[in-house]
Amino acid sequence: MRILSLLSVGVFALSSFAAGAQTAPGAGNNRVDKPAPPQVALTPPMGWNSWNFFAGRVTDKDIRDAADQLVATGMKDAGYVYINIDDTWEGERDADGVLHSNAKFPDMKALADYVHSKGLKLGIYSSPGPKTCAGFAASFDHEAQDAQLYASWGIDYLKYDLCSYREGVMQVQEPDDKAAQMRLMVAAYAKMDKALKTTGRPIVYSLCQYGWDAVWEWGPKVGANLWRTTGDIQPNWNSIYSILNEQAGLAQYAGPGHWNDPDMLEVGNGKLSLAENRTHFSVWAMLAAPLLAGNDLPNMTPEVRAILTNREVIAIDQDSLGREATRAYSDGEVDVWTRHLANGSMAIAVVNAGSDRYSTHPFHLSLARLGLRGPLKGKDLWTGKQIRLTDDMPVEIASHDILLIRIPSPK
Ligand code: GLA
Repeated sequence: MRILSLLSVGVFALSSFAAGAQTAPGAGNNRVDKPAPPQVALTPPMGWNSWNFFAGRVTDKDIRDAADQLVATGMKDAGYVYINIDDTWEGERDADGVLHSNAKFPDMKALADYVHSKGLKLGIYSSPGPKTCAGFAASFDHEAQDAQLYASWGIDYLKYDLCSYREGVMQVQEPDDKAAQMRLMVAAYAKMDKALKTTGRPIVYSLCQYGWDAVWEWGPKVGANLWRTTGDIQPNWNSIYSILNEQAGLAQYAGPGHWNDPDMLEVGNGKLSLAENRTHFSVWAMLAAPLLAGNDLPNMTPEVRAILTNREVIAIDQDSLGREATRAYSDGEVDVWTRHLANGSMAIAVVNAGSDRYSTHPFHLSLARLGLRGPLKGKDLWTGKQIRLTDDMPVEIASHDILLIRIPSPK
């Protein structure tokens, strides 16, 4: 019996490791008699989420189509694993308090089985409040029951969005005490963490409360694998660029298993130009952000697909060191970010936020301000060409475009 149970623990640990690069058994724990629960999100989660394109219209078919497309477009091979259903899947609770999905999602277990059959994982969405942001039933007072339900369906990821918990609970219970309101919020997130852990299923835990109350300081303590650092992203340059700038100063809070989340990708949405899509994707990779595509996968253009599947850019995001980029300096309308990578290599991103190419002119990239000395060999990750960096070299970048370079041996 003992040997059998040891064997099954080993098989469980191995199978959860094989299930995806973003899941691994308890690192550094060689004791098989009392294994640590498998760790998730050792690198930033990658996948797709329904909200940015479908919002409240999403259906079971859209989720199945997205799963099919992740496989067909090569995105799965490039690392995209999670298919996340956002708000508006929820139906009513029955007499026993069990939540049912609504008519758009006739059979959640069957949907999870379908997504798993493609080698992918399924995510879902709820709120600690009585209602979700779109006004559907949420988990208040049903946390343990909902966590068990998700586990029984085979859910692998939960986005837990504050929504009505603020007006419906925090502000009602503690109308005059902001600190007490915050304690209620932290307790609500800790409660769901406990409920998820009790299921025994590895489930990525994603906090969404728009970056309030320095969530990066307490997110890891409530078991979060990622936490939103901002309000909702929009598919336009101003939104993307202002979110980027809000991330300055947060790098120290990110690392394997716990990430800053500047919100889901808008690559391929709205009227973003190719340069803007490229810059958005590149800087999210520099930020070690979750790469959750949010576009219409069945109608994706080849150019957008090429951006989302650029493996060398994805490798920056997924770098095993897990160190987020910092803003090295800004000069006029040009920003320079750097990221330290495993094996001593480094990535440099130079963003032209100005309205035309000539606003960068004559921009000179100062290696000294990055703590480097030229000449250095690097690779331009968008042209694929080798590049030689010299001190104060002139760089000309189109409006809203980026120069993204990987340097194997910086000095
Ligand atoms: C909030 C979140 C969004 C999305 C919607 C769904 O606005 O920030 O990402 O989940 O709720 O209602």
